[in-house]
Amino acid sequence: MCGIVGYIGSRGAYDILIQGLKRLEYRGYDSAGVALVDTDGCLNVHKARGKVANLEQTAAAGNTNGTLGIAHTRWATHGEPNDINAHPHVSQSGDIAIVHNGTIENYAVLKKALAEHGYTFKSETDTEVLVQLIDYIHSENKCSVYDAVREALLQVEGAYAIAVVEKSNPDQLIVARKSSPLVIGVGDDETFIASDATPIVGYTDRVIYLKDDEIALIRRGEPIQLSSIHSNTPSKVDIQKLKLSLAQLEKGGYDTFMLKEIFEQPDTLRDCLRGRITDDGSQVVLSGVIDHQDIFAKAERITLVACGTSWHAALIGKRLIQDFCSLPVSVEYASEFRYSNPYLNDKDVVIAISQSGETADTLAAIQMAHDKGAFVYGICNVVGASIPRNTDSGTYIHVGPEIGVASTKAFTGQVTVLTLLAMAIGQIRGTVSRARVKEVATALRSMPEILEKTLKLAPEMQKLSRVFTYAHNFLYLGRGYNYPTALEGALKLKEISYIHAEGYPAAEMKHGPIALIDHEMPSVIIAPSDSLYDKIISNVQQVKSRGGAVVAIVSQGNKSMDTIADFSVKIPRVPECLTPIVASVPLQLLAYYIAVGKGKNVDQPRNLAKSVTVE
Ligand code: G6P
Repeated sequence: MCGIVGYIGSRGAYDILIQGLKRLEYRGYDSAGVALVDTDGCLNVHKARGKVANLEQTAAAGNTNGTLGIAHTRWATHGEPNDINAHPHVSQSGDIAIVHNGTIENYAVLKKALAEHGYTFKSETDTEVLVQLIDYIHSENKCSVYDAVREALLQVEGAYAIAVVEKSNPDQLIVARKSSPLVIGVGDDETFIASDATPIVGYTDRVIYLKDDEIALIRRGEPIQLSSIHSNTPSKVDIQKLKLSLAQLEKGGYDTFMLKEIFEQPDTLRDCLRGRITDDGSQVVLSGVIDHQDIFAKAERITLVACGTSWHAALIGKRLIQDFCSLPVSVEYASEFRYSNPYLNDKDVVIAISQSGETADTLAAIQMAHDKGAFVYGICNVVGASIPRNTDSGTYIHVGPEIGVASTKAFTGQVTVLTLLAMAIGQIRGTVSRARVKEVATALRSMPEILEKTLKLAPEMQKLSRVFTYAHNFLYLGRGYNYPTALEGALKLKEISYIHAEGYPAAEMKHGPIALIDHEMPSVIIAPSDSLYDKIISNVQQVKSRGGAVVAIVSQGNKSMDTIADFSVKIPRVPECLTPIVASVPLQLLAYYIAVGKGKNVDQPRNLAKSVTVE
């Protein structure tokens, strides 16, 4: 959460920073701000509550000159979203400006100590404390701002990616990170920095992923210097090639990123599957598993950890691993797992799932699993993010940048990779037959075409969305493989339409939620023709007999539901373990059209952020 961007070079920094902020807005949009250092020794700061567009309006009246600058888009943690709490924050001396993504946990103690040295604070933020600390060390120790930043970071507890500029030094940009991400883009005579690579694409494809505990001194016209914050020893500059195109970051003719991402799913699954199933369909090839065969052969237990939508994918992963690998599997919210003192040892495999690869709780869960000797496998989307770099092995889902805050294509990509992973582990352990792999892998390979057909439901889902304008509550029900699909369908609706929606195991509904059902509370029931279809029919009847409207997601060819449910939406038939991938598409579309019908901003829903880098 929060996005930071910076530039030093020969062009005007302002336009580059604004464009970068727009790309990072998915990380938070409570406020935005920019600080520019002009060659005549001026530090110009502009800030505005709300989106980057508001900042542009505010800044238009002021000075936006300078070829060095830093900028920030905020997801509020300390202090309400307003102009004062917006970043950049400037030191009391007026010389140093900072932008920060993360949280300074010991800010209250530091603030008290600084107050005793005469510092006053304008904002309620932890970040302002950090810039005052830098300022204090700079003036007390009479050292360079670079040394003061490093020294201040040694006193700080928490997570940060920061960029710092100094009014009297228009040739220097300082960045550092711990736990929060930071990428440096290396141009010919210019340097870009950002929370992820999206603001850098189009300028350069040469990037450095700053490591934890690293600080970079970027001086105009000089090679970038990297050092360890703790030991102050220089570290190796590892320039990598960025594989991201501008087209991937644009809406491509769709009204919103979310709709584009829903419709991209046939292609994203093609990319996700590429090279991972042998030509004859009888074997799954995942290098991350093959390279560690011994670990998977000897594993005694698997634990999946994740947050949000990724946690729903993990629940499906649990069923897949149970079915293919005959291993005990549990699923944990990363935020709970990290504080639950779980029993883990070197026979445990922990699978961490994360679209962004930056979720703070998931990263902390990984750290804890490592400390206890477990082998950690990552399933991520963003290449080079912190989670892939902090896991022992893993598989990328390769669905391309997901910009809509509500996850869609990443979810289907995660479930696809989990299906492959379960089969790959099953192959090693001898718990799955070649014939079974062939059946599922062949169906998986045709999933892009199946999703193309499923997406033809869009007009039907749009029409259906107009039926439920009366509803303030929804129930989503499913069983077996599709209980997590129900949870994910409900989450999509909540996230983008702000309608309360509850996902529940269909049979569990009679132990509570059934009390809520009346003619104003519709239920969406995921009921493909699987091993539990006959069971779920009676759950549908229980809802109907209490006056609730039912939308049933059923398999093509199903007729029996037509006479029971109010609406039955027909999805292509696939093997049971693949039904969540197909069933989630009409649910994404339904949530999307309901939210759009209510006039909501589906790409940037209120209060949410895509990359949650705080606890
Ligand atoms: C946020 C996003 C969700 C996402 C969750 C976990 O809440 O809004 O879409 O599922 O974080 O993120 P991750 O990147 O770890 O999958």
